[in-house]
Amino acid sequence: MHRFASIVLAAGKSTRMKSPRSKLLYEVGGVPVIGRVARVLRDLSIEAGVFVVSYQKDEVMDAVRRQLPDAAGVDQGEPRGTGHAVQCALPALPPWATDVVVLAGDVPLLRAESLQRLMDMHARAGALASFLTFEAADPHGYGRVLRDGHGEVQYIMEQTECTPEQAAVRECNSGLYVFCRSWLDEAVPLLRADNKKGEFFLTDLIMLAVDKVRVPTITVPESEVMGVNTQMDLARAKRLAREARVRRFMEEGVCFTQPDTVELDDDVAIAGGAIIEGQVSLRGATVIGACARVGQGSVLEDARVGEKARILPYTVIESSVVRDGARVGPYSHLRPGSDVGEDAHVGNFVELKKATLAAGVKANHLSYLGDVTIGEASNIGAGTITCNYDGKRKFHTTLGARVFVGSDSQLVAPVTVGDGAYVGTGTTVLRDVPAGALVINPKSQEIREGWIPPFAREKKPE
Ligand code: UD1
Ligand code: MG
Repeated sequence: MHRFASIVLAAGKSTRMKSPRSKLLYEVGGVPVIGRVARVLRDLSIEAGVFVVSYQKDEVMDAVRRQLPDAAGVDQGEPRGTGHAVQCALPALPPWATDVVVLAGDVPLLRAESLQRLMDMHARAGALASFLTFEAADPHGYGRVLRDGHGEVQYIMEQTECTPEQAAVRECNSGLYVFCRSWLDEAVPLLRADNKKGEFFLTDLIMLAVDKVRVPTITVPESEVMGVNTQMDLARAKRLAREARVRRFMEEGVCFTQPDTVELDDDVAIAGGAIIEGQVSLRGATVIGACARVGQGSVLEDARVGEKARILPYTVIESSVVRDGARVGPYSHLRPGSDVGEDAHVGNFVELKKATLAAGVKANHLSYLGDVTIGEASNIGAGTITCNYDGKRKFHTTLGARVFVGSDSQLVAPVTVGDGAYVGTGTTVLRDVPAGALVINPKSQEIREGWIPPFAREKKPE
């Protein structure tokens, strides 16, 4: 019986990123690089995960625990190489583990299926060590897999240690291994830091295993196991993740007018018939309904857009719902907790916050509608503002159905306007208005004909 535990190496300083932030915290498809690796372990139901951390350890463990709440963290202190990292993790492995999956933390595109294949092969072969390899388009920076005349693995040679002939080899180590636990316990203390970097290389274990028994490998596509070491690698990983998602959605009938320019997080769902225009970002758990259209430059995070709804260009939607057939934008901002009803319209420079608009409501121009409930088919004139904040507390505004709010009105919350009421243009509504009433702040209009402004009255000097 093989029972697998895992060690994830996540303590490196990310020197080549040239950034104070760990490479493992940068996001690919809306999930931190290390979170994606944790998610693979979760999908494989590997029971125990030990994460070796050091640099930015709290942030890294937070990202891990969002995917794997029970993951254990071990502090490597001063990172002295991948071999040293595994050494630090060994005491934290559960006693029942017969085999250990070891993963680098910087492989965001890894798929659970490939790791499962490696685990199955390792168990079948009764191997001491096995690992995933790939053919690199540009192998620079990776450890090269060196084989004998029979094609059997001999050892892994790190970039910094390679002769020019070795450097020409394109088969590379992915940094994803399975080891027999008892052998790992014996072999790790034998590692030496006798290389140019002065680090304990985990890869030297392969040479030690080959002394005993053949080391089997599986080759996977480079796109799946590419390591993120530089900003360029990160950009490439993001691009590959996006291309895969876009391709899948296209297969399901989604139209992208400029597929290379969209940003799509992993948890986004888009129904067939939807049209996604250029430079659109769909983030978090955004859901786009069938035949909806998302206009150019819009940014939607945790948004739910109904069927045939239209989001016109440059609209920002956060944690809000746009129901079937509604139209929002251009240049609208839906802040969290907003709900735009069926066939409702929200137009340019309208900001909603915790605003519930029933079916058919129209708020087409230049408004702030916060902490408000608006009944069916009401019309909100240009420049209407809900005054929901007294500097300390927030208050709610309730408008009934078929209310007409004239342009440039202010609704001073808490306030309620009944069904069918009419708010005259430029009214400051201070108290509740009954259904069917007209509310105005009486103002008169004065005309002074022939009026000359004071600055124009003075006589010009002769
Ligand atoms: C490593 C492999 C290389 C392989 C490549 C695949 C070694 C010596 N080399 O190189 O053969 O081709 O991955 O991507 O293993 N880490 C620690 N503690 C340390 C050092 C690193 O936890 O002391 C972590 C890093 O955070 C990272 C992972 O280990 O997540 C790999 O380290 P990295 O520096 O990226 O190794 P590479 O040079 O890419
Ligand atoms: Mg790396």
